Amino acid sequence: MIFDFIDGGAEDEVTLRANADAFRRLALRPRRLVDVSRTHQATTILGAPVSTPVLLSPTGLARLTARGGEVAVARAAGRKGTLFTLSTMASSTIEDVRAATDGPLWFQLYMWRDQELVDRLVDRVQTAGYDGLMVAVDVPVVGKRERDLRSGFTLPPRLRARTALDLLRHPRWMREVLAGRPVTFENIADAAPGQVVAVAQYVNQELSNPGATWEDLGRVRSRWSGPLVLKGVMTAEDTERAIDAGMQGIVVSNHGGRQLDGELGALEALPEVLEAARGRVEVYLEGGVRRGSDVVKALALGARACFVGRPYLYGLANGGSAGVEAVIATLMDEIDSTLALVGRPSIDGLDRSVLCPAHPPLLA
Ligand SMILES: Cc1cc2nc3c(=O)[nH]c(=O)nc-3n(C[C@H](O)[C@H](O)[C@H](O)COP(=O)(O)O)c2cc1C
Repeated sequence: MIFDFIDGGAEDEVTLRANADAFRRLALRPRRLVDVSRTHQATTILGAPVSTPVLLSPTGLARLTARGGEVAVARAAGRKGTLFTLSTMASSTIEDVRAATDGPLWFQLYMWRDQELVDRLVDRVQTAGYDGLMVAVDVPVVGKRERDLRSGFTLPPRLRARTALDLLRHPRWMREVLAGRPVTFENIADAAPGQVVAVAQYVNQELSNPGATWEDLGRVRSRWSGPLVLKGVMTAEDTERAIDAGMQGIVVSNHGGRQLDGELGALEALPEVLEAARGRVEVYLEGGVRRGSDVVKALALGARACFVGRPYLYGLANGGSAGVEAVIATLMDEIDSTLALVGRPSIDGLDRSVLCPAHPPLLA
């Protein structure tokens, strides 16, 4: 049930698959006999130094995956020298997560119906000393995630005939998660559900604001004094509007294929957004990144960095904080070896000459 909550996407999962498949549409063009004895992947994100262009996406309810949840993820990100983004839907507090890392830390905000709740969140994040605010604009309503409907996923998870066998097969999870401190939306206690709920239905009925528009972004912009990033942009038009609205960064994202099924894979939308942005803001790619070579391809197209979601949750499920570190380390190793093998020792030297279509015609 929890695996499907993490792994799944909306409806037929066409966009979920497109996110990963898009990377296969690009091939790498290696240069040989270049000195690659030292490779370099450290960079900066809106001025903050990070050891790698692999950043961690916001994911809700990480304590459902493993004890420690978001705190364990933030600690791992800090140890590896990269950025973590805490979700509005987190199951750990804003303050506990800030205490877990000295590294760069952002908060992901939803512009919900209850604007005072949103204001309070922004103030709390500011007081806690977060380095950036990422406003996610791709959830006017929650996408139809059929795996959750099929598995009967609720919060808190419920032991029912349909789920009993699944739960009983995972005694360690039952001991650590189900029997541990109840998992809930820790930062929106006033709005957190008092009873067992289907998360999507609950968010649609109680929280989300399908009436939110670009004008509402002004309220956040004037309240938050730090860097502001918009998550969920897929078109040139929205890129222009995001820049007009005072954003410093844009995350090209379809929410990991969990929202609108049938939109492009995120990588497929990246060139359009980059062209519209014309270097005025940092542009990040999120969705389907599973290998260091995927990161290299996105950077070669022009992205500043990549966010990953599911990969670190799988690491968390397998090995807690150390598991998340292992995932980041694996991606970093793969970036280093890909840089060496394409003959571009530094990410600064990546450009479109590294790329070509994966299936060029063999005969004219
Ligand atoms: C279990 C799960 C929960 C998520 N929760 C949130 C969330 O609360 N807020 C948000 O902006 N994005 C959320 N996302 C989307 C991620 O931030 C990100 O867009 C996505 O995971 C990136 O794709 P990837 O998993 O292929 O790397 C969630 C994703 C997953 C898998």
